[in-house]
Amino acid sequence: MACSWDSRTAVGGWHDAPVPRSTWPPCPDAVRIAPSLLAADFGRLADAVRALEGGGAERLHVDVMDGVFVPNFTFGTDTVRMLRRETSLPLELHLMIVDPDRHLETFAEAGADGITVHYEAATHLHRTLTRIRELDCRAGAAIVPSTPALVLDDVLEACDLALVMTIDPGYGGQRLIPRMLAKVAEVRAEVDRQGLGTEVEVDGGVDTDNARACVVAGTTVLVAGTAVFGHPDGPAAGARALREASRVGTAARSGRD
Ligand code: DX5
Ligand code: ZN
Repeated sequence: MACSWDSRTAVGGWHDAPVPRSTWPPCPDAVRIAPSLLAADFGRLADAVRALEGGGAERLHVDVMDGVFVPNFTFGTDTVRMLRRETSLPLELHLMIVDPDRHLETFAEAGADGITVHYEAATHLHRTLTRIRELDCRAGAAIVPSTPALVLDDVLEACDLALVMTIDPGYGGQRLIPRMLAKVAEVRAEVDRQGLGTEVEVDGGVDTDNARACVVAGTTVLVAGTAVFGHPDGPAAGARALREASRVGTAARSGRD
């Protein structure tokens, strides 16, 4: 399937796109790499972002933590504004915060292209997702490892992205929980059953050893922090290595199907 949006044309073009961001055409046959800035050097975030432009990353994954929903603090709106100034890569915010509805407008105004909220933190998830789209952002719904896939079934049509956490959120550098890949397959099957273009994303412990399994299970977006920013040859090389690993997965999935 041809994609109407490509990383090679993204820099400088994302905000000029003729369609609203929330209706960005899906691309189910390609795998996207979304480096998580959580693993970058916080003192040199702008440099990290520049290193990734044109280097195999289609978007940036920005983890927002409030010290309540998860036991850690990270980026806030000022960091998002800074990133918006520094790059044209799409900014995908992963809100690991309680009561996300209170902050949607602020993060959208700060420059978010996509906002993902947790099922476990949003009482009226469908309303929250709808609001995110109204703000011209791509809407994402995430579930932690202890939450079953089926809670997403009734909101998938309001989602541009379904995020299956493959670790307990809060910290980078953890190991992917293998059982979560079965959950990815469940989400993928439901997305396909409903005939949706919703992206299926995994986040946590993704590396070149398991990227293939993630893609075979049905993932279309790989979030990776340590595997990208911990690569000995730098983040662009880390993103490229993941892309190579995921290409194998794409081929394997096509073969299986
Ligand atoms: C953790 C974050 C992840 C994290 C992944 O709660 O949501 O995005 O950065 O980092 P790695 O790839 O190191 O597991
Ligand atoms: Zn994340």
